[in-house]
Amino acid sequence: MKVNLTINGVASSFEADPDMPLLWLIRDEAKLKGTKFGCGMAQCGACSAHVDGELVRTCSYPVQLAQGKTITTIEGLSANPNHLHPIQQAWLDVQVPQCGYCQSGFMMAAAHLLEENSNPTEEDIKTSITNICRCGTHPRIVEAILLAAKLKSNETTN
Ligand code: FES
Ligand code: FES
Repeated sequence: MKVNLTINGVASSFEADPDMPLLWLIRDEAKLKGTKFGCGMAQCGACSAHVDGELVRTCSYPVQLAQGKTITTIEGLSANPNHLHPIQQAWLDVQVPQCGYCQSGFMMAAAHLLEENSNPTEEDIKTSITNICRCGTHPRIVEAILLAAKLKSNETTN
């Protein structure tokens, strides 16, 4: 089928099997390699992206469901390349990653959380973000999300 969608602000069109995971389209057709393949079973969150503003594990999301939708990947998290998204800034400030493999998925989940809840508690973060990091960076991820919430709130009040 022909799939028309917008990825990181760019209207795009691809020929794809309707049942192909959206992750393959993002990585192999759109050549955006920041979104990762981990488990392939919607368990780990490494493949997380936003589809029409919803958080989606793209390894288990058939491309046909993305028809006409707007996709945001880690590469498009900040609309302005000269201005980091609060999540990106907080990740840098806290120096979150270890090997880095899981991090784009966590960042997309964290950005989505802040859209839904601008002032999450530590408990909110632990409950809503169920991604897996095999390097054990979870404590720094929680710290970074708490910081990002503050940075975001400063952005809106300045
Ligand atoms: S690769 Fe999609 S959830 Fe693990
Ligand atoms: S930083 Fe290595 S898996 Fe998370």
